[in-house]
Amino acid sequence: MFHSPDEKPNCNSPIERNEPFQAAFTSQQDFIKDVSHELRTPITIIQGHLELLGDDPQERAETIALVRDELKRMNRFVTDLLLLMRAERPNFLRLSAVDLEMLTQELFAKATGLATRNWQLEAIAAGEMVCDRQRITQVVMNLAQNATQYTREGDTIAIGSALTNDTIRIWVRDSGEGITAEDQEYIFDRFARGRTSERRSEGAGLGLSIVQALVRAHDGHVELFSRLGQGSTFAIVLPKRALHQHQELPRSERLALSSLQESQP
Ligand SMILES: Nc1ncnc2c1ncn2[C@@H]1O[C@H](COP(=O)(O)OP(=O)(O)O)[C@@H](O)[C@H]1O
Ligand SMILES: [Mg+2]
Repeated sequence: MFHSPDEKPNCNSPIERNEPFQAAFTSQQDFIKDVSHELRTPITIIQGHLELLGDDPQERAETIALVRDELKRMNRFVTDLLLLMRAERPNFLRLSAVDLEMLTQELFAKATGLATRNWQLEAIAAGEMVCDRQRITQVVMNLAQNATQYTREGDTIAIGSALTNDTIRIWVRDSGEGITAEDQEYIFDRFARGRTSERRSEGAGLGLSIVQALVRAHDGHVELFSRLGQGSTFAIVLPKRALHQHQELPRSERLALSSLQESQP
């Protein structure tokens, strides 16, 4: 039961007024509303097609293909939701020492398979970092996939990595349509899709929130530089070593890492 401030005139602190609780409740309600909406769309599509289904074999085949597609999309959606939830748990990452040069080359090779574009490998950091290789790959593939959706065949998509003293930066730059300042404000939110751009993805607007959650799990952050008509650069910035998470590493790698640190000035 929630009380409005009117009912409790003497409560002045936000906690006394139940504000954090109220805010959490409201955001949970919004979340459930968004999830329901996203699931209802494919359900309605499937239902509509099944109700109209006749005996024509050609038509039946088309409906089955469509239903499969919609179910696949729902499945992807649920997988994404679960990942978002899991990414906030401690011990989510599987950390290991990763060679940056190899990682960058591998990310680039994988991304070029997504679509025909003018792909460029524009910088390669040399060195090592501690990260969850699979999750970082997922992040960069997500960004690269988005980049293919907002560019055309002749456009450039560049991937690069750079190492400074204590941070590693990996970026995906595209010469596509860019993002308005207004859209930049909220596209990282769950279920947010650009309002001003034409919709190019079949996703539920969870891609960038997953990117952000995975990067935050690494104690990093995401930077976005974009100008309408000129393209976008999404950069993930990660601490070189997530030291406090070493306990998750297998013992052999923990030992290798601590000797690596001891040898540093
Ligand atoms: N490289 C990009 N260029 C232009 N707009 C982009 C780019 N990447 C993302 N966006 C915008 O951000 C929105 C959210 O992206 P995302 O979270 O991946 O969701 P989805 O791909 O499901 O739409 C997109 O709908 C689009 O408007
Ligand atoms: Mg996307």
